[in-house]
Amino acid sequence: MDSLQEWPEPIIRVQSLSDSGITAIPNRYVKPLIDRPTVGLLSGFNIPIIDLGGLDGNETVRQMSGACREWGFFQVINHGVSPELIRKTREVWKEFFHLPIEQRDVIEEYGQQLVKLGGNIMKMLSKGLGLEEGYLQNAFGGEDIGACLRVNFYPKCPQPDLTLGLSSHSDPGGLTILLPDDYVDGLQVRKDDAWVTVQPSPDAFIVNIGDQIQVLSNMEYKSIEHRVIVNSIQERLSLACFYNPKSDIPIGPIPELVTPDQPTLYRPMTFNEYRLFIRHQGPRGKSQVESLASRRAASVIQHS
Ligand code: OGA
Ligand code: NI
Repeated sequence: MDSLQEWPEPIIRVQSLSDSGITAIPNRYVKPLIDRPTVGLLSGFNIPIIDLGGLDGNETVRQMSGACREWGFFQVINHGVSPELIRKTREVWKEFFHLPIEQRDVIEEYGQQLVKLGGNIMKMLSKGLGLEEGYLQNAFGGEDIGACLRVNFYPKCPQPDLTLGLSSHSDPGGLTILLPDDYVDGLQVRKDDAWVTVQPSPDAFIVNIGDQIQVLSNMEYKSIEHRVIVNSIQERLSLACFYNPKSDIPIGPIPELVTPDQPTLYRPMTFNEYRLFIRHQGPRGKSQVESLASRRAASVIQHS
């Protein structure tokens, strides 16, 4: 079945390759020079850290919307998900690839809490756009939208400088809330023409804007390209929670955010249609949402 749930980047099962103890990676995994992890790094930077436990809610909203405008990424600390639950979840998920998964309750509880956190962030993001707090959630199709958890496993790689664990992409959905590995870094975020390696704070979640919120906000909030590098010494795990809109309602720029200065950049499209569109384009960094915008821009120009 050509499932709509499929990820735009084909998931490659390299675990057995890694386990077999190879010392050189097959040619097809070797990236062109420009895409290699050693090229274009920007050191001394990190994505902004937002304290959700701060007393001044307006200040928090200001910081968060600033981060979404400038980086499309931020970390949240004091987020209300207990360190104990995070610890148990990490334990369970580390075993995920080696054991049959029995400990469903922990994951279930974790999923519920992350949906709650996602809902709260959506409220702050709405306010940061000058909208009523329920606005984005409504635009996503209401309260009981589905979130999807995915465990990413990056095995050790003998030649980490030649390849990537996950190629550059932007997330197609709404919001991504990522629990990164607690020991091994690897996520890199595009900053202009360079890459910034995220240094996660302890027990923080890494949050990023996906294409659907870039579209809704008419590009006020940016869905930024990111990728994952691997290393030869340690495997790496991450747990991603994708907080997405309902798949069958049209998502287009919010009318309040369309002005003469910032004309509409996107034609409304359902998340289902968008995923099909991406599938046919293949994973190409941010070309998906950008080619939509440029086509739109082209047709606006033609019509004026
Ligand atoms: C993703 C992703 C980053 C990571 O799953 O879309 O970008 O650190 N993951 O695993
Ligand atoms: Ni991603």
